[in-house]
Amino acid sequence: MPAVVVNHGGDAPEFEGKVTVYVIICVFIAAFGGLMFGYDIGISGGVTSMDDFLKKFFMHVYEKKQHARENNYCKYNDGLLQLFTSSLYIAALLASFVASRVCTKMGRKPTMQIASVMFIIGVCLQAGGINIEMIVCGRLMLGIGVGFANQAVPLFLSELAPAKMRGALNICFQLFITMGILVAGIINYFTSTIHPHGWRISLGLAIIPAGILLVGSFAICETPTSLIERKNLDEGKSTLKKIRGTDEVIPEFESIVAASEMARQVKNPFSKLMKPSSRPPLIIAILLQVFQQFTGINAIMFYAPVLFQTVGFGSNASLLSTVITGLVNVFSTLVSIYTVDWAGRRILLLEACVQMFLTQVVIGLILLIDLKTTGSLNHTEAIIVVSLVCIFVGGFAWSWGPLGWLIPSETFPLETRTAGFAFAVSSNMLFTFIIAQAFLSMLCTMRAGIFFFFAAWILIMGLFTLFFLPETKGVPIDAMAEKVWKQHWFWKRYMVDVDDEVMMEKVHPHVK
Ligand code: BGC
Repeated sequence: MPAVVVNHGGDAPEFEGKVTVYVIICVFIAAFGGLMFGYDIGISGGVTSMDDFLKKFFMHVYEKKQHARENNYCKYNDGLLQLFTSSLYIAALLASFVASRVCTKMGRKPTMQIASVMFIIGVCLQAGGINIEMIVCGRLMLGIGVGFANQAVPLFLSELAPAKMRGALNICFQLFITMGILVAGIINYFTSTIHPHGWRISLGLAIIPAGILLVGSFAICETPTSLIERKNLDEGKSTLKKIRGTDEVIPEFESIVAASEMARQVKNPFSKLMKPSSRPPLIIAILLQVFQQFTGINAIMFYAPVLFQTVGFGSNASLLSTVITGLVNVFSTLVSIYTVDWAGRRILLLEACVQMFLTQVVIGLILLIDLKTTGSLNHTEAIIVVSLVCIFVGGFAWSWGPLGWLIPSETFPLETRTAGFAFAVSSNMLFTFIIAQAFLSMLCTMRAGIFFFFAAWILIMGLFTLFFLPETKGVPIDAMAEKVWKQHWFWKRYMVDVDDEVMMEKVHPHVK
């Protein structure tokens, strides 16, 4: 059997190797980094609305909340509390740039280990918090942990996976995010009835995914790419044999060696990122994250309990909405795992745009026509809205959710991979922060119009995908420039001087 099989219409070389049990174990352990992130997304909102927590750290918020009058669109909210919750995203944003350097210099595995240690420190500070300083420091440490984990885990998964299974294995990160969100919602429901320390249990249980990541990380390998990049050629080759389950790894090994030689000529990855040839993956990485947040997913997930209350489930509404939207989120991510490597990335993104656009518009119309400032929808309409929310979440979960992380992790060449991915992570954090800060006031002023606002963004991202997003399924990660960017009708214009840039780096390594 030949070592290199040329397929994909003669486009992309496919290397030997299967998905070994060892790779599955590595993927499973690393994906706990996603569970840490998802658990925090799912736990924070619930904890910051628990009276025991507010009375201890945000007394003024608790007092105001007692007297606040709410209507369907203007939920009571406190800026300071909102800032506290989203401070994690700012810490993560800044940390991702440091993490990118650590990822290059020390490897993906130590970056994940640092992530879990930071996260554990943050969990201890929060769960054992006796004053506001401890709680804020804890939140910032969690943010650093998330920044490091979100930087390292998707890259680790994409580099470990054979090209033909890269999508599926990478999406395990998102799968674990969704499981974290679901589990956290259920835990909050029960701990909110445990007084006065239920919130400590909620926050403290985050130690489980972080602990599994830390302990498990000693059993996993470094990626061959990172080993070879850091000149550990022998270890890189033996790791490649181990993860591919074959000794026939020379072609893939040589392709990584070639990529890392190219990478070594680049002295400053961040200045290389500003060169024209880096524009295609950089613009796409940033826009995918902006678009992911402007689908309105986090706003919808946040708003779901209110919508469910209108169905008439009363105090069960929040648990029910968490469980229903959470399960849809988890199971729809599985759809993505099964389809992404044969149907491709583009089709999932485009199909989901249609699905999410229609659901946002119809929800907007129903609320515009029938949901007044106070009162509720009639039973049938409420059931329709809840079903539409589920269809929306399902569409997001098999497309923009996982692919927002997958595509940026597989499209940068080695020399700018960690630096470029840091832009993806930080954009995600920045726009999550922006939506978290702005959503409630936008809902209050725009009312049902907010759903049309998100629908307009979905239209824009659909057009962007149609014209500017190339298909990357099955293309080896180190062959993207040749096989994807140089072939694309629009992006190829930035690739013409790529060889000149390399020459310039060789001759004048310090010229930026
Ligand atoms: C996004 C999060 C979102 C989650 C929902 C992730 O990919 O980055 O902002 O809450 O998906 O499942």
